[in-house]
Amino acid sequence: MILAETAVLFTEETIQKRVGELARQISSDYAGVEDLLLVGVLRGSYIFLADLSRRLTVPRTVDFIALAAYGGTTMATGAVRLIMDLRADIAGKHVLIVEDIIDTGYTLDYLLSLLRPRRPASLKTCSFLRKPARLKKDVPIDYLGFDIPDAWVVGYGLDYKDKFRALPYIGIIKINAE
Ligand code: IMP
Ligand code: MG
Repeated sequence: MILAETAVLFTEETIQKRVGELARQISSDYAGVEDLLLVGVLRGSYIFLADLSRRLTVPRTVDFIALAAYGGTTMATGAVRLIMDLRADIAGKHVLIVEDIIDTGYTLDYLLSLLRPRRPASLKTCSFLRKPARLKKDVPIDYLGFDIPDAWVVGYGLDYKDKFRALPYIGIIKINAE
């Protein structure tokens, strides 16, 4: 059992307000676009993607891609592997990558280099969180929820060892014992 304490960083209310702001911005930027494809990066982004996609006012479809870092975290080597590819052919489509958090940036950097050669009409990125202090790759983020300090956060889809994803708030976790 994981014994842990979480200190609230963003309440449910703060999260929902920010998601609404991002959705309004994205809906306005993609006004008139008929083929916006949201690409959710599994697994961490599934709750953010669900909330964001329901608040968009432009036509959109959803697809998923699953990536993992070798050894559990990209910190060790920066190497990322593809677990499950998209179903959709993205050629000619407007693609918006939806991520939970940018830590080192290696995952998003890999994803951009994987999707760019497939010739989407446009390729933009949205991440709910980013840890600026930890960035190793200068990845472009077109829509960002919040910058956060260098700490491990859980909730709102984010996990620690696959737990805590369902918390309605985002908290900084402190592990006491396992
Ligand atoms: P990056 O390749 O280092 O940018 O790592 C990004 C991925 O690591 C994210 O998509 C998350 O799955 C995971 N990650 C990084 N930091 C955290 C955190 O604080 N909580 C939960 N997952 C995290
Ligand atoms: Mg992720």
